[in-house]
Parts: sequence; structure tokens; C-alpha cells
Amino acid sequence: MSISSIWKDRYLNTVPETLSGAKNVTGVVSAFNSNIDAILPVSGADLSSWISRFGFSVDELLADGVRAINTPSDLFRGIIRCFQRGIAEEWLIFDEDTFKWTSDNLGYKRLQMGGQGGIVANAAAVSGVQNVYVHCASLPKEQSQLFLPLDNLKSFTTEGELVKASDISRNDLGLIHWIIEFSKGDTLELPGHDVIICPKSNRFIATFDPLNLTLTIDPAFRNVVKHPFSLVFLSGYHMLTSTLPDGRKSRDRIIESLEVIDEWKKNRDVLVHLELASTQDETVRREIVDLVAPHCHSTGCNERELIDVLMVVGEEELAGVIDKDTSAVNVFKGLVRLFTKLTVDRIQLHMFGLYITVQRREFRSKLSLEKNLRGMLMAAVVASSKASTGEINSFDSLTHSLRTDFTGAADHAIKELTSVSEYIANEMKGPNTLAETGIVELPEFDVIAAPTIIVPRPKTLVGMGDTIGISKLIGAL
Ligand code: GLC
Repeated sequence: MSISSIWKDRYLNTVPETLSGAKNVTGVVSAFNSNIDAILPVSGADLSSWISRFGFSVDELLADGVRAINTPSDLFRGIIRCFQRGIAEEWLIFDEDTFKWTSDNLGYKRLQMGGQGGIVANAAAVSGVQNVYVHCASLPKEQSQLFLPLDNLKSFTTEGELVKASDISRNDLGLIHWIIEFSKGDTLELPGHDVIICPKSNRFIATFDPLNLTLTIDPAFRNVVKHPFSLVFLSGYHMLTSTLPDGRKSRDRIIESLEVIDEWKKNRDVLVHLELASTQDETVRREIVDLVAPHCHSTGCNERELIDVLMVVGEEELAGVIDKDTSAVNVFKGLVRLFTKLTVDRIQLHMFGLYITVQRREFRSKLSLEKNLRGMLMAAVVASSKASTGEINSFDSLTHSLRTDFTGAADHAIKELTSVSEYIANEMKGPNTLAETGIVELPEFDVIAAPTIIVPRPKTLVGMGDTIGISKLIGAL
């Protein structure tokens, strides 16, 4: 049997069963960041017409400057910067008047769940976990209606009562992140300048979120400790800056959150997972590694986030190598190196076409190698279903990709996996089994990997990493 057929069968034979096992997970806590994503696709023509209507200076728009939005002109400077380079960036709106201006003048096409915490909660609830508790720094009606209307998805009211999240309507400030999407090949004409051609479809995020930026914790949520759960999925630290707009320090906000997490961990068998996420502020990135990670069993990242973290743990050189050539083998080298620097029991990484997890041998009793692999396969199916349909909002929708012209793992994915398998055999003196079995036991740690399903024309990519991260864990529990 070819490697590709082995994986195809493995997908078909395990994923439905793994997914139906999600209902045996008693509870998941998803904290801390949920927000409203306002999706706004823009064309070059829209941009030129706004710019001439509002009379912005084109020279100012094209100039370099701080990556923050303090005036409406900064907002357009950010959009143009990303449009011109085909890159993704997220800038913060600090100024309330500019936020109001943006709300009044930009509009949006649709609202969808935003923030790792919110996206993870929806994904966990739809897969059938018994209870999902989602932390919300703010939960007005416009936020709560983005939670799937499921009885197992809960949060706290102003009075501190735990109820169905989609029914809550707190008198809070809406936290809006504009996801401004632009397309490859589109052109932007600005008076007195050469035509700008967008080299790659991507997005610019303009974020107004005074509560998540300061890691504001809902005091009522601390009481979640009275309810049953076995997994805590942490995210949201990446939004901090070392000195907050109000002068407080990220370090103090982190320490306060750790007291809460330690309370949740007391007297129970719980797995704490930290999603690294793209953290711009280097001091905060270092604090996440030094302060938060030691309180967690598990952590997750993509290849970009791996490079960023390697930069702050004294591995600039290796980070540079991976940045230059982001092959699966180089990423794997970086992952193993990071694993030696952190105290966590496991790191799960996702990149285009491949998932790899490294885990301490002693952790097998908690998450077996076989279960890790099953979780990965479930994650690939859920993520590809989300990418091809645009949303996952029912249990059936989670296996869409398995039911519709399922061709198995992508060839590119199998190739990447095989290269890591050979690297382990040739350079680490391990057995060359990873490509076929997805599992290798090495003296110091175990490696689990799976080739993923690639969707040629995805309808959405927002929140893909978050969906993958939680599905791997639910499937492994
Ligand atoms: C960032 C954005 C958020 C978006 C999320 C997706 O955290 O701020 O709006 O939903 O990424 O992962």
C-alpha cells in the first residue's frame, strides 16, 4: 500500500469515531480573548474613492510611521502598506474619536466571531464537548449573537450566573476588529504616483479593543472553578504591550491572570494549553515564555510563531535559517530546539500541509501517542471543512471534507512528512517510521506527525490555527 493510501484510510477509519468521542470530554475553559470581527473586503477602487472623498494627503499615506492608528489617515496608511506588500498586519486604534470615525465611515460586510478564545469556544462546542465555558471581557448582544446557539456553550451574566452564551446581553462596550481584506492582482491608483499592484491576497486588521489589550478578566468568570472541566485553553496574551496605554505593565497583568489559572488547576486533573499566537511586542513574547509557559502543560504555534519565539530564547541564528527556508525539516529542527528550552510537556505545531507534535515520554500516560495522532487527523478534517465551506456550525459540517470528494492528504503534505521522517532516521539515528505510522519514539521525547488535507481555494482562513489547536486536543483527550 502506498503511503498516501495508508493516510487516506487512516483518515476515513478514525475521524468519525474520534469526533463522536468529543462528547466524553466533560468541559473546556476557553480564555481570555473574544471579540467581534467586522469583515470588510475592499478593492483598490474603494480605497482611491475614500482617499479622495476624505482628502487625505497621499504623501502621508505612503510614508512610514508608527504602526498604530491615532487618526483616520493612519488607518488608510496601514491598509495601503499591507495592500502594496501583500502582507498581514494588525494595528491598534487607541483613539476613541478615530474608532467612532471608523464605525461611521467604513462599515462592514458581515460580523463574525473573533479572537482566539471565542473561535476556540465555538469549535469546541460544536464538536460536542459537554460544557464549554468561554471568557468574555465584554459581552453585549452584538458579541453574544456570534456564539453558536448551543446549550453546552456558556458564559457569565453581569450578575455572575452561568448561562447559555448566545442568550447573554451585558451592558458592555463592543470590541471591534475590522478585518480588511484585499485581493491579489487588484490595483490602486493614487494621484501623482505609480499604480500599486497588490502581490498577494491578505488582510489588514484594525483593532479597537481596550479590554482585551489590557487582559481584562471578568471577575465572575473566576467561579468557573465550581464547574467540571478537564482542559483549559489559553490565548490572548499576544495582544498585550509591555507598557499598556494606561501605563500599567504587561508583567503585572500576566501575573494576575496566573493567579486565576492556578486556582482553576487546584485539586483537579486538568490539562492547561497555551496558544502562542503572533505576539508583536518582544518583551511580552519573552514574558509569555518565562512567566506563562511554566504554568502550562502544553503549547501550540504555527511556523511563524515558532520563529518569533526562537528569537527571544537566544536562538536568533536558527530562527533566521527557518525564516529563509521554511521547509518542514527546518521547522522540525526549530521545534525540537524550542522544546529543550521550555518546561512544557508538549508542543503542537501546525504549518501548511503538516502537523507535528513533540511530547515528553512521561506525558504518554496523559495523552497517548495514538490519541495525539487521532486528534491531529480530526483537526485536519475540521479545519479543511471550515476552509471549504466557510464555517462550521453543526456537528455534520465538521466532516464535510471527509464526505465530499475526499482524496486524502495532499501530495505536498506527504512529501514534507517523508522529509522529516528521513531526517529523523539520518540525523537523529531514529527509525524511519514517521511517514508511515505518524509516530516515532526517540530516547528523549516522542514525535507525532500527520500530513494534512489542503483546500485549493479556501473560503476563509481567519481563525484556522485556533480551530486546529483545539481540535487536536479534544481529539486526543
Ligand atoms: C487576531 C484578531 C482577531 C481574529 C483572530 C483570528 O487575534 O485580533 O480579530 O479573530 O486574530 O485568529
